[in-house]
Amino acid sequence: MPFMEIVDKINNLKKEKNAVILVHNYQLPEIHDIADFVGDSLGLSIEAAKTDAEVIVFCGVHFMAETAKILSPQKTVLLPDKNAGCPMADMIDAESLTALKAKHPQAVALCYVNTSAAVKAQCDYCCTSANAEKMVRHILTKHQEIIFVPDKYLAQFVSAQVGCKFVIWEGYCPIHAAIIPEHILRARQLHPQAKVIVHPECSPELTALADIVTSTEGMCKYVKNTADTEFIIGTEIGIIHRMKKDNPGKYFYPASDKAVCPNMKRTTLEKVLWSLTDMTHEITVPQDIMDKARLAIERMVQIA
Ligand code: 13P
Ligand code: SF4
Repeated sequence: MPFMEIVDKINNLKKEKNAVILVHNYQLPEIHDIADFVGDSLGLSIEAAKTDAEVIVFCGVHFMAETAKILSPQKTVLLPDKNAGCPMADMIDAESLTALKAKHPQAVALCYVNTSAAVKAQCDYCCTSANAEKMVRHILTKHQEIIFVPDKYLAQFVSAQVGCKFVIWEGYCPIHAAIIPEHILRARQLHPQAKVIVHPECSPELTALADIVTSTEGMCKYVKNTADTEFIIGTEIGIIHRMKKDNPGKYFYPASDKAVCPNMKRTTLEKVLWSLTDMTHEITVPQDIMDKARLAIERMVQIA
């Protein structure tokens, strides 16, 4: 089917079904271009909670769609590719977290939003990379010991910012971990004027080389508001489409053009069309898990 025909059908179905299309910054360019809202995990959670639409087509990965469902249980949340997961989120499960909590009975549990609903249900607080530091500072006003799962690199970054220690889990994002200092050094040689911006899911060796370390939305805001015009981007390369679109006349260079999250790229225009046509793949979460996980997620949205 020709490209424009697919886009027209998606737009007609959106109206017919009262649907909204939420798109993460790492999605393919053509998915960005059909979005009602493009953003980071935090922005998408907030948008999912406030939309009046009956149907949310979530163009991202499974934990993001689950978070939208938990915040809006009365809405139908669709994930166009049911296999779009997050390897980091899969590095911890509810049983392992229960065992870790048993070893630290005085600690409160803070999970990165990149976790399953079952893990969130075991946690007191949730955070994204956009508000992790703020959440930790808030928690420390009430508690002394924090278990922070599953991203060891985000935990190490926040730990250095706040000056506190966490009980951590050995999880990480394989896409961000594959961006190495040599990539930044080479890019800096090629573009000596460029500011280096990296995601806190990157290793400490990488964040140490950066001018700015922030979430994907933080990156988009920074490049828009600064007078600088050249940037080396240390995160998944899908975000560069949005940066170029929002900032004509500025230049964006990926730290590594291999920083591609295959799960984020599973969503295609055809799959969005099939999803709206057949109302697939609907995200469901058991009621008890949903109710427990909502407490942690709502705290995150409130404190954001
Ligand atoms: P953001 O919340 O910064 O968009 O990050 C989500 C993610 O999965 C990064 O890999
Ligand atoms: Fe998960 Fe990494 Fe992909 Fe983000 S980029 S969805 S953390 S695998």
